[in-house]
Amino acid sequence: MIQEDIEKILGELEALKCKTQKEVEEARVRFLGKKGEVTALFDEFRTFDKENKARFGKVLNELKQKAQARVEALREELLSDPSQAEGPRSDLSLPGDPFELGSRHPVSIVRQQIVDIFRKFGYDVAEGPEIEDDYHVFEALNFPANHPARDMQDTFFVSAGHLNPLLLRTHTSSVQVRTMEKMDVPIRVICPGRVFRNEAISARAHCIFNQVEGLYIDENVSFADLKQAILLFAREMFGADTQIRMRPSYFPFTEPSAEVDVSCNICHGKGCNICKGTGWLEILGCGMVDPNVLEASGIDSKKYSGFAFGMGLERIAMLKWRVNDLRHYFENDMRFLHEFAPAPEV
Ligand code: PHE
Repeated sequence: MIQEDIEKILGELEALKCKTQKEVEEARVRFLGKKGEVTALFDEFRTFDKENKARFGKVLNELKQKAQARVEALREELLSDPSQAEGPRSDLSLPGDPFELGSRHPVSIVRQQIVDIFRKFGYDVAEGPEIEDDYHVFEALNFPANHPARDMQDTFFVSAGHLNPLLLRTHTSSVQVRTMEKMDVPIRVICPGRVFRNEAISARAHCIFNQVEGLYIDENVSFADLKQAILLFAREMFGADTQIRMRPSYFPFTEPSAEVDVSCNICHGKGCNICKGTGWLEILGCGMVDPNVLEASGIDSKKYSGFAFGMGLERIAMLKWRVNDLRHYFENDMRFLHEFAPAPEV
């Protein structure tokens, strides 16, 4: 009887086929589990007399070893055969999935260009806090209390009421003040950063924008130096044939002050709808630093003079890429941002 059972099981083990690891485990339980067929034969063996025990002991042990070896072999076979493995198949010869590269924001691109140009002229970069006090944004820049020029820059106040309220800086000229306080003359810095003004948001105005302001102080700095610096900058930024013109203007911290236009690089002076038919585009404000400003920061205005300038980055980016709505710069619409992505590598 037991002899037949042993042979039947040996035949079954031989013919056993498994497609998955789950089936291998089921086969193990069927033969070798607590209630498995091989285990059952061992239970039966225990009831045998001495003679039969001597006869079948070795055979049964061999059967158990064969069953274990067969199950193990089936398991190994599946592991080394990828087409039989569980989970998704992978074809290692397929090309990889391309991953999308991010792109730099147009305002960052313009800021970097401006910083690079002025670095070549020997300027350092200075940064300062976005939440400022009244002193650094207005007072030290020759805006006395109640001066009407404060209305030019609609200010967001963080804490109002006391002598030196906190506010969101309306220009990065505050960083120029901090630089004059800290550094010795000669000073050559540019100050890039975000600024804030309480304006209604529209295609042409926003309550947040970015500036780069510059400051140059030394002995014998003249308006001619200012004009030359701006001309060189404009030609690096907008092309070698760019012209500039200066119009008289007013800022409390500079005297004399000017606004600078560059020749329209779209119509080359003929007049188009970007330059509104004038052939000129306004890009920055500038002037000779008012002696009061130098003195407020402890610089001897009899010995030293300087110039300052400031420009809005969104405006320059608008002119460069002909973006017609300022709001695009702040919405992070992927379709807009992708326009500035570098060409993909092939
Ligand atoms: N701070 C001025 C502004 O934000 C720009 C400016 C800077 C003008 C330096 C003249 C000199 O409008």
